Amino acid sequence: MERRLEATEYVLGGSEEELIRLRAQAAEHEATARWLLGQLGLRKGSRVLDVGCGPVGILPLLAEAVGPSGQVIGLEREPRFVQMARAEFSRLGLTNVTMVEADALASGLEDGSFDLVHERLVMVNLPERTKLVAKMAALAAPGAVVALQDIDNVSWACEPEHESWAALLHVFHDTFRAGGGDPFVGRRLPALLREAGLVDVRCRVTVDLPRPGEYRRAHLLSLIASIREKVIASGAMDEAELERHQAALTGHLADPNTLVIDKLLMQCWGHKPNPRARPRPRK
Ligand SMILES: C[S@@+](CC[C@H](N)C(=O)[O-])C[C@H]1O[C@@H](n2cnc3c(N)ncnc32)[C@H](O)[C@@H]1O
Repeated sequence: MERRLEATEYVLGGSEEELIRLRAQAAEHEATARWLLGQLGLRKGSRVLDVGCGPVGILPLLAEAVGPSGQVIGLEREPRFVQMARAEFSRLGLTNVTMVEADALASGLEDGSFDLVHERLVMVNLPERTKLVAKMAALAAPGAVVALQDIDNVSWACEPEHESWAALLHVFHDTFRAGGGDPFVGRRLPALLREAGLVDVRCRVTVDLPRPGEYRRAHLLSLIASIREKVIASGAMDEAELERHQAALTGHLADPNTLVIDKLLMQCWGHKPNPRARPRPRK
């Protein structure tokens, strides 16, 4: 049975480190997000929803895709991220973006009212995945798209192998799972969409080799920094051991001869059946 996390339980927290991490993450995922939006047939004037958008998410890209006549809603339950997003969009003059502070499982938004309902990297954190996709499907209008982007850590590795990579990845996975996360959720996305009644489900997977200086090169270290207190409190590692591994891995990743293979990014989308529409031709 799925367990519901409380609002304060988001395993990576709402800290300044997490804000910096999410901004950098949004920048590095921009090209893949643009590719996905290009597949979804968004029109100017569309009404779209980004579920669990964080302080940025793909909101600026959605705002560009639907234009000033469109409507972008960012749904986020972490109050600090909502405030940060509002400040950023007012600074950028994006008048077609509205933030809604609510839990995605009980948002109060109108069912059947969106042309696109999207999430990125929310499913990986949330124990109630089946419920979330069902909720997203309910919010989509008949014929509209539900799109999911999430990771699968099956590929995440460094070469040469390093004991501190192995130790920190292990402790990260354990802490993440204890908070209800699933670091291998990517492979489940197509089935989650089909189980929610979506049809014509398509998927793409990408994987990168982040080079020295790129944000995702040191992603494991920044994730560990975000959950540091939880790791120490759980007794999985004490402060000294954690710091020893962090320092050793920092050195290993700075070596240009170390190869890092990133997590898989799964992008999956499907359509809500529209009983009135004629069958859609496959591309
Ligand atoms: C890893 S971040 C991803 C943020 C953004 N989608 C992106 O790709 O940059 C996950 C976000 O989902 C939000 N979140 C998690 N569970 C949620 C829920 N039940 N309702 C609304 N937001 C949620 C978290 O607060 C966090 O901002």
